[in-house]
Amino acid sequence: MGKDVIIALDFPSKEKAMDFLELFGEKRPFVKVGMELFYAEGPQLVRELKERGHKIFLDLKLHDIPNTVKSTMAVLSRLNVDICNLHAGGTANMMKAALEGLTRPDGTRPLLIAVTQLTSTDQESMERDLLIREPIGKVVMHYALRAKESGLDGVVCSPLEAGRVHEVCGKDFLTVTPGVRFEGNDVSDQKRVMTPAAAREAGADYIVLGRPITRAEDPLAAYERCLNDFVG
Ligand code: C5P
Repeated sequence: MGKDVIIALDFPSKEKAMDFLELFGEKRPFVKVGMELFYAEGPQLVRELKERGHKIFLDLKLHDIPNTVKSTMAVLSRLNVDICNLHAGGTANMMKAALEGLTRPDGTRPLLIAVTQLTSTDQESMERDLLIREPIGKVVMHYALRAKESGLDGVVCSPLEAGRVHEVCGKDFLTVTPGVRFEGNDVSDQKRVMTPAAAREAGADYIVLGRPITRAEDPLAAYERCLNDFVG
């Protein structure tokens, strides 16, 4: 898969998600289904999106004991999504078990990427709440490297970290980056943001945008501008 723009379908219901996708006519953008929509509508919606022809990043961020994650990944794999994810904090044993669960009998599987430290976690909260005292940049790179060594395909990271992740883990290790905003956009709760063009320069493989597209006056125009700036 090459570079692409992924739209976060952060909606509370199928109706709202489908109304939004109607604005795209025959176009079938790569979409991200996260916890909100998945817990509201379940796997059937994922099947319907797949039948409509969308590529899907199923962003459920699994984090549990290896056996549970393995069997859950086996169930998710049958949905034929394109990308799944988990928390690298579940440790290498969990990541390896996840890969085993995700791999179908014919050897194929969706891509599997890891969340390192959430972008909402800062140095202070990591030290105070998690008792991790190393610099957060070092922690993120360590988690990325453990994900790579466990056989995963990439990480979710800030576009500001994409270049360094590629240096540490190799250029083929995927960087999927939220925290993207157009020049002049309200940054909302995202703290460290980049434009689509800057994310491209930084070497991000996929950018994930929610509100800059879902809440745009003209979502299709915002999506096309983003594709043009990021993919060219
Ligand atoms: O609306 P916005 O563009 O901020 O949406 C970004 C999307 O990426 C949301 O679905 C959010 O949950 C997700 N995400 C994130 N930061 C992470 C991981 C996921 O913003 N570290």
